[in-house]
Amino acid sequence: MAFSDPTQPNFWNERYETEKTPWDFHGVPSALRQFMQTNPRPRRVLVPGCGTGYEIRAFLDAGWNVCGIDFSPAAIKHAETYLGEQIRHVVLGNFFHYPFEGKFDCIYERTFLCALPPDRWMAYAQRVKELLAPGGQLLGFFFTGPEEEPPPYPLGPIQAQELLRPELTLVEDNPVTDSLPLFAGKERWQIWEKQ
Ligand SMILES: C[S@@+](CC[C@H](N)C(=O)[O-])C[C@H]1O[C@@H](n2cnc3c(N)ncnc32)[C@H](O)[C@@H]1O
Repeated sequence: MAFSDPTQPNFWNERYETEKTPWDFHGVPSALRQFMQTNPRPRRVLVPGCGTGYEIRAFLDAGWNVCGIDFSPAAIKHAETYLGEQIRHVVLGNFFHYPFEGKFDCIYERTFLCALPPDRWMAYAQRVKELLAPGGQLLGFFFTGPEEEPPPYPLGPIQAQELLRPELTLVEDNPVTDSLPLFAGKERWQIWEKQ
């Protein structure tokens, strides 16, 4: 039976269990590595929809305080295999409802927002604004499209502004040089800062 609703864990379980994971970068994109080099002060970061968790390890290795969350048990199994004991920094839970303690300095985005149907974007934006500390940053990769057959769901620049402003301001916006073919020319590295 094929599951068709990406707001439900079984949609993602099926994809991880059958290895149909075309978004999987099998590593950490260079823009994030560069960000960590140029911002060496470790902070507290949340990685929603962390999947296999490549970035979890990268942030931990750079000394950051990291919390990853994913609601798919099959994704968590992949993360366990990849992260070993570092899996203790990842929780099985729903980004929209999990009772996180305190605020985050950063929220890292990669293929989480574009995996959500657009009718969930307002809830995503509200949650990000609520979880970020003042001066905190939403940073990562934003899928801008175009896309003839979503998902992934593209987020245009006007929609992004409508969702995130005025609480968040776009302070960095660059093309991505090492995208997977699925995202090539269709994603941007961005940093949005909370006032
Ligand atoms: C396209 S995958 C991206 C995984 C990872 N970010 C990456 O770049 O490899 C989307 C992930 O978000 C997770 N996810 C979707 N909705 C979620 C929610 N409401 N709470 C937590 N995780 C969620 C899925 O289980 C899946 O692992």
